[in-house]
This record gives sequence, structure tokens and C-alpha cells, in this order.
Amino acid sequence: MAGVARVESLLVQFVVSCLVLLSCLRYGNAGMTSSFVRSEYPSVDIPLDHKVFSVPKGHNAPQQVHITQGDYDGKAVIISWVTADEPGTSKVQYGTSEKKYEFSAEGTITNYTFYEYKSGYIHHCHVNGLEHDTKYYYKIGSGDSSREFWFITPPKISPDTPYKFGIIGDLGQTFNSLSTLEHYMQSGGQAVLFLGDLSYADRYQYNDIGIRWDSWGRFVEQSTAYQSWIWSAGNHEIDYMPYLGEVTPFKNYLQRYATPYYASKSSNPLWYAIRRASAHIIVLSSYSPFVKYTPQWMWLREELERVDREKTPWLIVLMHIPIYNSNDAHYMEGESMRSVFESWFIHYRVDVVFAGHVHAYERSYRISNIHYNVTSGYQYPIPDKSAPVYITVGDGGNQEGLAGRFRDPQPEYSAFREASYGHSTLEIHNRTHALYHWNRNDDGKKMATDAFVLHNQYWGRNHRRRKLKKHYARKYIDRVAAY
Ligand SMILES: [Fe+2]
Repeated sequence: MAGVARVESLLVQFVVSCLVLLSCLRYGNAGMTSSFVRSEYPSVDIPLDHKVFSVPKGHNAPQQVHITQGDYDGKAVIISWVTADEPGTSKVQYGTSEKKYEFSAEGTITNYTFYEYKSGYIHHCHVNGLEHDTKYYYKIGSGDSSREFWFITPPKISPDTPYKFGIIGDLGQTFNSLSTLEHYMQSGGQAVLFLGDLSYADRYQYNDIGIRWDSWGRFVEQSTAYQSWIWSAGNHEIDYMPYLGEVTPFKNYLQRYATPYYASKSSNPLWYAIRRASAHIIVLSSYSPFVKYTPQWMWLREELERVDREKTPWLIVLMHIPIYNSNDAHYMEGESMRSVFESWFIHYRVDVVFAGHVHAYERSYRISNIHYNVTSGYQYPIPDKSAPVYITVGDGGNQEGLAGRFRDPQPEYSAFREASYGHSTLEIHNRTHALYHWNRNDDGKKMATDAFVLHNQYWGRNHRRRKLKKHYARKYIDRVAAY
């Protein structure tokens, strides 16, 4: 009897396996909407007297310290900070040994008003002539209230250089934001690609707007003082507030967060490019003119021509508004930029486009809609091997909360989506492969929820694969000959 029962059990297992296999075949390419329901912290900002916003001790001590890449190839940084009491010194002392500062550089000091709020003294210091892949210690401020930090410069530009980027968007300053930041800092990421919407200070009124820009600067300092954050701007950076007499877009953001736009021949700090290790990163501004013949359009056309995939195989684009988004929140907002730039992304074989804005996570398949031209009749995105993967990581954890309503049914282009907080990492291994993760915060625990291997769009093409095989064979023969 036991034998018959065992045969029956095996038969049932076989039938179930067949059904699972059949369903996989039928829906092999179907996307997935996660059913995970997050029990979230209240989406309120952390109180100003919390320790994450603490002002460093000492008269005029530097605060809100942050660094970003300062040139095209990673041999310079821009170090920025604020002093609250008086201008003080704008000098950065730096060197390759702790407490020994062989070099120094002089920065600039600015301040501004926003309504009746008066900013502290904002320092930006361009430190150049650095060696690649080197740990630098730096000291800012003076006397007893000086402060010391360090950073590691990226490796030399080279096609097979490994590098790990973190990707964060729409961060804000809630307990969910803190959870995202802490999880990212445990990830081993070497630099952050930030997707816009920094402080959400514009949710406040009057002088509290400036005060919350300051608190956010102190909040992220635990990471931004030690590694470059590559900034892009979102709608919460616009700060267009006629009721306060403040009508200069991006005033708070541009005063505080410098970018090396001039190094990529851009005319505006809101759009620019850098090269870092084996990646060419293009930052676009969703809220600046981008239609044909505008400065951003003309710059991007030229920058894409400057990309050299033999040196930097990975071509990554950052923007705030996602081009492909199946959430009810901000649905179709990316359509105008899609109609202008998508064909370039296909032509230049962009590997991945990261966006924020939507407070949920979503990843697309490789798809395009470039044949749509109003009258062509082609109105749906179709699978396209030359297209980038589009990933929305607008789930940093700000006070607006999650965007929990996805469109139903899930569009065919959408591979995975979930309304949770988290961050992503892109771990480049060599010129052909990179490992991507999205890490859900999961109520305080870091948890990798979506992961895949990203194949390089340039080196994945057949004739280049053959070229690569020859390249590796030649290297091997050379190494054998050297013995
Ligand atoms: Fe946004």
C-alpha cells in the first residue's frame, strides 16, 4: 500500500510540475506585481531635535558636508559645506595620510535669502589634480571646530574596471528615509546616483523651507561627506513660490548642490555628464526645456557622440520623471521626454535609464515605442533588444508616502513592480556584465527583492563579442609568452 501511495504522490507532483511549467510557458514574459504590503512608519518628517539633524559642536563648525565628482573623469571633487555663524575659512586641507595634510585648496563662499530666511555661508571648494583609486583625508573649518573626513577617488577610466553604484531617489527626511540611507550605507556602494527630490523642504512654508534644506544637508552628511553623490534635480527642487516672492527656479538647490557641468561642456548645472570607472553617466533635467534646439537637446546630442564605449562600456542615463511608468501616480508625465529622446537612447544603445518621481519601484523589459508618430498606427511599446532597461527608484521614503495604486492590468512592458521603500545597487563586474539589485527596506531589514544580470548593450553585439574573444585570447597568449 505504501508503494501505491508513493506512486500516487509522485504522479501528483509530476502533474503539478507540468501545470507550473505550462503556466510559465504561457506567461513566460509576463510581468509581476508584488503583493507585498508594507506596514510603514507614518510618512512624517523626523523632528528637528532628533540626533540625525544635530548641529556639529563648536563655533561656526562646518555642517551639511557633501562631495560630488568635480571633473569629467574622476580626478577632482567638489567639497561643499555650510557655516552658520560667520563666513570663516573656505580652505580645504587634504592629503593621503590621516592627520597629515600636504595640500590645500581655496573655495568660494556664497549666501542667499529665501523669503525672510537667510542661509548660512555656503562653501564650495574644487579640489583637483587627485590620483585615481586613492584614499584622501580632508579637513575643513578652523581651530577646535574643524572637522575631518575622507573619500576614495574612483579608479582610472577603463573598460573592465569593476565599480558599485548606489541608486536612490525621492529621499526626503522621514524615518523611512533614514532606513533607506542606513541600508544603502551597508551596501558597499562607492558612489550614489541620485534621482532628484532631495529634501522635500518645499512641503513647508515661509522660513521653514530654508530650515528643512539645512536639516536635510545634516541628515545625509553621514554618507555625502565620504563619497560622491551624483545629483539630478526633481520637481521638489524647483521651489517656485510667487506667494513668497520667490520665482527663481531651483534657487535653494543650485546654491547648495554644485555639479561639474562645465567639464562636459554643458551650459547649465542641471544637465551634465561624468565618466566614472567604466561608466558614462548622463544626467538630464526633466524640468528644463528639452525639445528640439533647446540648450539641453543640443548638449545631449553632442554628449552622446562623445561617449566612447571602448573606454566606458556602460552608458547610464539619470532623469527624474520616468519615461515608462505604470503607476497611477505621474502616469504619462514622461511622455514628452520620451517622444524627444527615446530614439537616441535606442540609437546609442543606452544600457539603463534610472528615474525617480513615482514613490514605488518598477522595472521594464527592453522595449521601445519609437515607431509611434501620431499617424503611423503604432501606438504600443514593443520588445526591442536595442532599448535600455527603464527602472524607477522613486522610493527613498519621503513624507508624501508610497504610490500604492498601479494600473491594472500590468502592461506587457512592465517586468516587476512593487510599492515599497528601498534603494538599488548596480555592481559593474566588467565590460559585459553588471549585477543589479533593488533592496526593499522591509520594515527595517535590508532585503534584496528584485535582481538581474544586466548585459552590456555595446559589448553584447555579436561582432564585438568575437572581437572580445580575440582580445582575451591575445592577452592570454601574451601572459603565457611572458613566463
Ligand atoms: Fe518628484
